Amino acid sequence: MEFSTKAGTPEKQKAGCVVIGIFEPRRLSDAATALDRAAQGRIKAIVRQGDFEGKLTSTLLLPAIEGIAARRVLLLGLGKPAEFGARQLRDAVRAAVRALGESGAEDALFYVAELHVQGRSAGWNALQFATAAGDASYRFDALKSKNNQRRRLRLGLGVMGKPNRAVAAGLAQGSALAHGMSLAKDLGNLPSNICTPSYLARTATELAKQYKLRCQVLDHAEMEKLRMGALLAVTKGSREPPKFIVLHYQGGDKKAKPIALVGKGITFDTGGISIKPSAEMDEMKYDMSGAGSVLGTIKAVAQMELPINVVGVIPSCENMPDGTAIKPGDIVTSMSGQTIEILNTDAEGRLILCDALTYVERFEPAAVIDIATLTGACVIALGAVASGLYANDEQLAEHLLAAGQESGDRAWRMPLWDDYQEQIKSPFADMANIGGRPAGSVTAACFLARFTENYRWAHLDIAGTAWRSGKDKGSTARPVPMLTTFLMQRAGVL
Ligand code: BES
Ligand code: MN
Ligand code: ZN
Repeated sequence: MEFSTKAGTPEKQKAGCVVIGIFEPRRLSDAATALDRAAQGRIKAIVRQGDFEGKLTSTLLLPAIEGIAARRVLLLGLGKPAEFGARQLRDAVRAAVRALGESGAEDALFYVAELHVQGRSAGWNALQFATAAGDASYRFDALKSKNNQRRRLRLGLGVMGKPNRAVAAGLAQGSALAHGMSLAKDLGNLPSNICTPSYLARTATELAKQYKLRCQVLDHAEMEKLRMGALLAVTKGSREPPKFIVLHYQGGDKKAKPIALVGKGITFDTGGISIKPSAEMDEMKYDMSGAGSVLGTIKAVAQMELPINVVGVIPSCENMPDGTAIKPGDIVTSMSGQTIEILNTDAEGRLILCDALTYVERFEPAAVIDIATLTGACVIALGAVASGLYANDEQLAEHLLAAGQESGDRAWRMPLWDDYQEQIKSPFADMANIGGRPAGSVTAACFLARFTENYRWAHLDIAGTAWRSGKDKGSTARPVPMLTTFLMQRAGVL
C-alpha cells in the first residue's frame, strides 16, 4: 500500500474523490470550509438541511459539485471536536475507506493531516492516516479463483498548506507499519496446508533478501544438537518438518544489544493426543500469529530503517496426533536442562517457547518479548480488547503498555506472582506443563518465567486479539502496531 501526498487547496484537486471532515454538530473543518466557499455554500446547505450531523464514522458521498474539481466529495463525520483524538481519527479514516470501497472512485485524497489533535503534529496525523487506511483496505482474496481482480483504491493525503516534510515522513512510517501488518495478516489468514513451518522459513528468508537482513533456519537435526527437547516433543506427531527461524535486523550500532522478539509458530494446533473438539478448529491455523507478528514487525522496522537492533526468533512446527506423538504423562528435558511432565499435549505453545527463550540468551538481549496465542483462558479474561501482558521488569512493562495506548493496540498487565507457581508443580519432573483451570493464562506465563530469569522479559498472550472470529473472520495483525510503536519509541523517532 503506497500513499501519496498532495499540497494545495482541496477544491482544485482533480481526484476521484476528496474526503473532508465535518465535526458534530454540523461544524465544517478547514478543508470543508474551503470546499464550501468554492462551491458557493453547497456543503453548508447540505449540512444545514439536516443531511449530515458529523457523527463519528458517518459518511455521505456527494456526486460532482460545480466549483469543485474532484469527481466526488465524501463527507466524513469526526464527532465532537472536544472528543477528537487518535482513536477518533483512526476510526474515521477506516470508515471512509469502507465507504470509498462501495463507491466508484478509483482514487481519493484525504484532508485529515491538519485536523487538530491535542499535542500532535500533522506528521503524526499522517502516520495514523496511513496505518488506519492500510489496515482498512486490506483484503485476503489470493485463494479465490475469481474475485481477486477487484480494483485497488489509490489513497493520498492532502495538505492545504505547502508541501510538508514531516507529513511525508509520517506517511512513510505509517505505510511501513501497514506493510508489516499486511504481512502478518497474510500469514495468519493462509491455511495450514500452505502456511507450514517451511513456508514461514521461506518468508523470513525472502524478507532477509529484500531488506538485507541476516536469516538462519535451523532444521530438526540442529535442534537435536541444541537439545531442544521440549520443542522436539511437540513436533513428534507431525509429518511437516519443524523449523527454527532466526532473523537479525541490524540498524543500530554493532555493539548495541538487540531487542529479541520470540513468536509462537504453531502452524496448526489440533491439540495432539489431548485432541481439541472439532467446532471452530479451523481457527487453529492462527496459532502461528505470534510468529507472523514477529515477521510483520521486523518488516516494518526494516522498512523504516530504525536505528536499533532486533532479532526475531520463531520456533515453528505443527501439533498433531499420531502413533509417534507425545502422550500425556511423558517427561521431556528442555534445552535449559529443566524437565517437564507433559500432562496435556494441547499446552504445546509453552513447550516450543521455552526452548526458544533459552536459545535467545546467546544474544545477550537488552530485552526479550515473546508473543503467543497461548491460552483460551486469556480470551476469557480479556476478550478481544486487550492482549495479556506479563513482565519481570517494571520499565519494560510500562513501555509496552504505553506503546499499546499510543497505537490503539492495547495490553493489560497481569500478575506473575510466585504464588501461582504452586499450580505447575509435578511429583515426577521439575514442572508440569499445565496448572489446572484457575488462572490458566497466568500459570502459562509462570511456566515461561522459569526460562527467562537471566534477562528482562515480557510475554504477550494474544489468544483473544490476534484474529476475529465469525463473519468477519480474519487476522488483525495485532500486536504489530504495539511492537512497532515500542521499537519506534526506543529508536527515538516517535
Ligand atoms: N493455541 C491454544 C490456545 C488458544 C485456544 C488460543 C483458543 C486461542 C483460542 C493453546 O495451544 C492451547 O491449546 N491452550 C490450552 C492450554 C490448556 C490445555 C492448559 C487452552 O487454552 O485450552
Ligand atoms: Mn494447544
Ligand atoms: Zn496452541
